[in-house]
Amino acid sequence: MHRKTIVLGVTGASGSAYAVRLAQILLLADCEIHIVVSDAARQVALRELGTSLPTESADSAAWLKFLTTAFDNAPSNSWGMRDVELPTESRIAVHSFRDYSAGIASGSFLTDGMVICPCSMGTLSSIANGASTNLVQRAADVHLKERRPLVVVPRESPLGLIALENMTRLTHAGATILPSMPGFYHNPASIADLIDFIVARICDHLAVEQTLMKRWGADD
Ligand SMILES: Cc1cc2nc3c(=O)[nH]c(=O)nc-3n(C[C@H](O)[C@H](O)[C@H](O)COP(=O)(O)O)c2cc1C
Repeated sequence: MHRKTIVLGVTGASGSAYAVRLAQILLLADCEIHIVVSDAARQVALRELGTSLPTESADSAAWLKFLTTAFDNAPSNSWGMRDVELPTESRIAVHSFRDYSAGIASGSFLTDGMVICPCSMGTLSSIANGASTNLVQRAADVHLKERRPLVVVPRESPLGLIALENMTRLTHAGATILPSMPGFYHNPASIADLIDFIVARICDHLAVEQTLMKRWGADD
């Protein structure tokens, strides 16, 4: 079976847990993931997860260890997250935020899609305007120009006109705007269930198989 290659950009909006859980699920689905983390995302993650993301120079093994243990610390250890055992042969490529020589900065590097999760309003704006001032923005621009799936998971509330217009612009350019707005119709019992709601929808849009939650309308 074709192993999917997915780019995961993590930026400085609230919701670091979505990124960690998404990375876990992509690896469990046997995807190869290419991770790029913004400076602001590191600040947010430290505050929200109670632990630092691996440094820019961290290798794939450090990321694998981090992804396995990220929810062990307060406050996220009370969110009902399930323990995961990630395959030791997981394929994780880590890229520096400003490394424009990375493969994912070029359209000739084939991927099956990219997700920016969470996506700050700043990154949203830069992509909508083609700024490409860091590797997250550049890789997103590449996905748009190559007509490959780009899933953007913005978080802000309320949304101002500029953010709304940027989302419209990105939708016209081919991106999928998938806000981190979990539904409640699946009777969530924990924060973990709310996180999985969003991660499941992201995987669906990247055509990555997942069984995180029962599908609406599916038989019992
Ligand atoms: C704890 C914390 C939470 C934040 N939450 C958000 C947010 O939900 N949405 C947003 O657009 N920016 C948020 N910000 C501000 C962004 O991190 C900031 O605008 C930054 O420049 C974004 O840079 P980046 O897009 O390169 O990651 C937050 C910052 C901090 C420190």
